[in-house]
Amino acid sequence: MSEPVSALVPLPPRRRIAVLISGRGSNLEALVEAMAAERWDARIVAVIANRPDAAGLAWAAARGLPTAGLDHRAFAEREAFDAALAQAIDASGAELVVLAGFMRILSDGFVRRYEGRLVNIHPSLLPAFAGLHTHRRALEAGCAFAGATVHLVTPTLDHGPIIAQAVVPVRPDDTEAGLSARVLAAEHRLYPMALRWLIEGRLALDAQGRVRPLDGQPQGLFFES
Ligand code: GRF
Repeated sequence: MSEPVSALVPLPPRRRIAVLISGRGSNLEALVEAMAAERWDARIVAVIANRPDAAGLAWAAARGLPTAGLDHRAFAEREAFDAALAQAIDASGAELVVLAGFMRILSDGFVRRYEGRLVNIHPSLLPAFAGLHTHRRALEAGCAFAGATVHLVTPTLDHGPIIAQAVVPVRPDDTEAGLSARVLAAEHRLYPMALRWLIEGRLALDAQGRVRPLDGQPQGLFFES
C-alpha cells in the first residue's frame, strides 16, 4: 500500500549546487552534460577538490565553472579542513552539496550542517559493501549483481537514506576493471537522474526516514549487461 501523502516530508528544491571531487571527476562531467542537454533550471556554483591537482578541477575550470582547490594536507586536523570546506561552500551560496568521488571522510559536524542536502554516490548496492574495493569484494563474494547507490549522507560512512540504485549484472568471467567500468557507466546515468529529482524538489522523506519520490517514479535503473 502506498504511504498516505501526509506522512511524507518533502525535500525542498535546491538549485544551486556545489560539487566536491578528489580525482578524475567523470561523475561531475556526466552531471554537467545532463544539465546542459536537458536544460535544467539549476546551476553549479562551486567545484571544490581536496587535491589541487585533481583532473576534474582542471576540466571544470576549462568549462568556465567556478573552481577551488583546498588541499587537505595543509590542515593539521580534519575539523579544520571541514570548516574551511564549509566556508567555501557557503560563500558560493550552494544549497545542495554533491560528493562525486570525494575521497575524504567528513566529520559529523560537517555532515549535520548539510543534513538532507548532502548527497553521495557509492559504487555498490548499499547496504552491501560500504567502504573501499567494492567491485573486488562483490566478485570475491560471488555476487550475481553489482551496482551503485545514490544516498543522502549521514554520519555513518556509506549509509543514509537511499535515493536511487543502479543494478549491473556480474559476468561469469568478470574482472575488477571490467566490472568497475560498467558500473561507472551506470553511475553516469544514475547520478544525474537522482540529482535532478533532488534539485527539483521531487523527493520526500517518509515516517521511517526513507526517501520516496513524490511522483512515484521507480528508484532504480536496471542494466542488461
Ligand atoms: C565513482 O566510482 C564513485 O562511485 C566513487 O568514486 C568514483 C568517482 O569517480 N565514489 P569520478 O571521479 O566521478 O570519475
